[in-house]
Amino acid sequence: MRDSPPQTVYLKDYTPPAWLVEDVHLTFRLAAKTTRVISRIRFAPNPDRVDQTFFLHGEDLVLISSHIDGVAVTPKITAEGLSCDVPDGPFIWEAEVEISPATNTALEGLYMSGGMYCTQCEAEGFRKITYYPDRPDVMAPFTVRIESDLPVMLSNGNPVAKGEGWAEWHDPWKKPSYLFALVAGDLVNHPDSFTTMSGRDVELNIWVRPGDLHKCAFGMEALKKSMKWDEDVYGREYDLDIFNIVAVDDFNMGAMENKGLNIFNSSAVLASPETSTDANFERIEAIIAHEYFHNWTGNRITCRDWFQLCLKEGLTVYRDSQFTSDMRSAPVKRISDVIDLRARQFPEDQGPLSHPVRPESFQEINNFYTATVYEKGAEVIGMLKRLVGDEAYAQALDLYFERHDGDAATIEDWLQVFEDATGRDLTQFKRWYTQSGTPRLKVTEDWTSADDASRPPSRDLAASPEAPDQVRGGDTPGGTYTLTFEQHTPGTSGQTEKAPQVLPIAVGLLGPNGDEITPTTLLEMTQAKQSFVFTGLSARPIPSILREFSAPVVLERETSADERAFLLAHDTDPFNRWEAGRQLARDGLIAMIRNGSPADDRWLEGMSRVVRDDTADPAFRALMLSLPADSELAQVLHEQGTTPDPDTIWQARETLTQQLADTLQDALPRLHAEMTVEGAYSPDAGPAGRRALAGKLLGLTTRLDGGAQAARQYTSADNMTLQLTALACLIRSGRGEDALAAFYNRWKDDRLVIDKWFMLQIAEADPARAADVAKTLTEHPDFDLKNPNRFRATMGALAMNHAGFHRADGEGYALLADWLIRLDALNPQTTARMCSVFQAWRRYDAGRQALMQRNLERIAAKSDLSRDTAEMVGRILG
Ligand code: PHE
Ligand code: ZN
Repeated sequence: MRDSPPQTVYLKDYTPPAWLVEDVHLTFRLAAKTTRVISRIRFAPNPDRVDQTFFLHGEDLVLISSHIDGVAVTPKITAEGLSCDVPDGPFIWEAEVEISPATNTALEGLYMSGGMYCTQCEAEGFRKITYYPDRPDVMAPFTVRIESDLPVMLSNGNPVAKGEGWAEWHDPWKKPSYLFALVAGDLVNHPDSFTTMSGRDVELNIWVRPGDLHKCAFGMEALKKSMKWDEDVYGREYDLDIFNIVAVDDFNMGAMENKGLNIFNSSAVLASPETSTDANFERIEAIIAHEYFHNWTGNRITCRDWFQLCLKEGLTVYRDSQFTSDMRSAPVKRISDVIDLRARQFPEDQGPLSHPVRPESFQEINNFYTATVYEKGAEVIGMLKRLVGDEAYAQALDLYFERHDGDAATIEDWLQVFEDATGRDLTQFKRWYTQSGTPRLKVTEDWTSADDASRPPSRDLAASPEAPDQVRGGDTPGGTYTLTFEQHTPGTSGQTEKAPQVLPIAVGLLGPNGDEITPTTLLEMTQAKQSFVFTGLSARPIPSILREFSAPVVLERETSADERAFLLAHDTDPFNRWEAGRQLARDGLIAMIRNGSPADDRWLEGMSRVVRDDTADPAFRALMLSLPADSELAQVLHEQGTTPDPDTIWQARETLTQQLADTLQDALPRLHAEMTVEGAYSPDAGPAGRRALAGKLLGLTTRLDGGAQAARQYTSADNMTLQLTALACLIRSGRGEDALAAFYNRWKDDRLVIDKWFMLQIAEADPARAADVAKTLTEHPDFDLKNPNRFRATMGALAMNHAGFHRADGEGYALLADWLIRLDALNPQTTARMCSVFQAWRRYDAGRQALMQRNLERIAAKSDLSRDTAEMVGRILG
């Protein structure tokens, strides 16, 4: 990669484009190493421009010829693009360039995957296809002609004409270049159709390689459900005659929302019961929805610049989570999202990679497709909706679509719509977009019974600068309960001062007998410290705070294990019931790790009650049984001033899981039998939830029977969920060898299944062996550095095995660094992303810190290091 010296781009430096594009004609003469791209672009001066420079982005292009209004010109070319003298008024730019898709291993621009041509342009890949103002605020209609011998040739918009060896497409909707797409290959389609709310028929296709046709049906159903849902819930209709999805094996991300031609990582669209797990099905449904929803939130309304990425991503993630909640179980989706947020976004926000939901600067935008922009960005929208209410949210969204259709918009535009629709001042709320870091929310409580109402207020109350907010009760006689909150956001990299944020805190109160005495009430916190008073209570309540995880904060509250056990048994809010169990487990594990305490009986008792509670959704019960990840425990220990030792953490989890198995021993066979799903496989939430719980139970059983039942399940399994669960149990119990060999033989021709085979044996390996297993697998003939899925299945799995990755002798770090150094030369984007597994390096002991630092420095020192990786390693090292 011949990257130019790193330059930092700042949000504050934004200027409007000097030239706008009226329309674009592109001709592609496809050839593996010598593709010709001929462009004809009508430019016009931007009335809002602040300068007149004519600059077109372009990277790794060979310019064959260029003309302005038919006259040959000789532009000045640099590594980033070209500039040229141009007329004062409108003109036509024509250029012919040559590019080499076959040698494009970065998977950005036009490249080849399994014999097919495909593109990836977001964020700045179009400049590797032709010279163009490659920025999202330049939007234009595109006409594309593709010339090739391949039978299928696709681009954005509607097909207009085709003949022997060529096809032409026209996209009437103006769009930025990052939404351009082209596909050509020997493909087959799974066709269907959809009639929109105004009665228009849309042709739908999922295009795949011939062997994958049996894996398209589920994705197609998900697409139709998404189209219907967006009409029903957001009033958004599809706007072209055709919607195409293409599955591609080599892809850096999950999928891409190119207008009318979504391109998917095959792992994010292809599914069959034999080859895909329940989790795969659910993820595919969500990603199909996500990309489809981008048609309005992203494509019809796009981003002015890449700093506004959360405008489309936060909103679209929020929309796809609403969709999944509607299609499946809302509490289960919420809990899963919070688990994910804490596992991926919290560490990011609390470490060296911390950045605001709307960053203020970057070197390489590809490094900002992060959990903060996506998942915290979605949380921010959830808070906004909670604060203004469902009805006002709907009105604001209608206004957003009406006012900004066809625009390249900003976060300011987005917030303005909410201010106009609701009359609210969102100045303080905007801090959620500009301030990085996870707020910590401390809670203290005060109770005054009716009898001692005359005693002076407690110190906490007295210290509150503002009069406390009256929440409920008025003059009703009875006791008074006061909740006092203090918010504090620790300084983050580049941002030391933090101001108070608006926190929607959903609270309910339970009576001593477990009845709910105050239903969920939204407290709106705006100050650094604020009290809320509940009056007219007959007895001291037990509070359920931050129901549904109403704000992405760390709640700090001294709570007894008894109170947690009480909430676990009685809370009416499923999220907080789960949270109580989770905290009980977490505190118990921390005590085991720090003081060698025995396992907490209240958690074990709570679990034996929950697991048998047949009024509770099995999927929910499965989530209750899962323990916090080792990395989460490491983070908590670090916060509490203890240096985490990965081996001790792993050991504590093992011990607690074993004790859970012992506790449930008698019930396991019956419960497992109850969760068995009869009949044909269905990926629906109901049966999937039963299999999830059954899988947890099988894991426990394996600790008691040495793997006998898992071995039986492995043999009899008729779907991938059952097969993979059994295989994981066998590997963990040290009896996986034969099954792994059989699995490989059965599935060696299916790349997506072989990814699972790579991943599982590393992720489930005994930590002492994980790095060795990973190393051996990199020598396997099926290890393919160029395929991001395979690379993640190997190196990502190693990083997921916390104690294995952090093996004290540094073998895990060294192995990963070796491969990152190799991959950087081929695929900077995937390399840079994977570097983030080192982000928590400062949290560990001196020995491990030194080893991680040395390996990071080894990566940094590589010659010709990509801009992507250089920026990431630089930020991580600090
Ligand atoms: N915009 C894509 C999505 O969120 C993600 C993506 C980014 C894909 C960059 C490829 C490259 O759906
Ligand atoms: Zn997206």
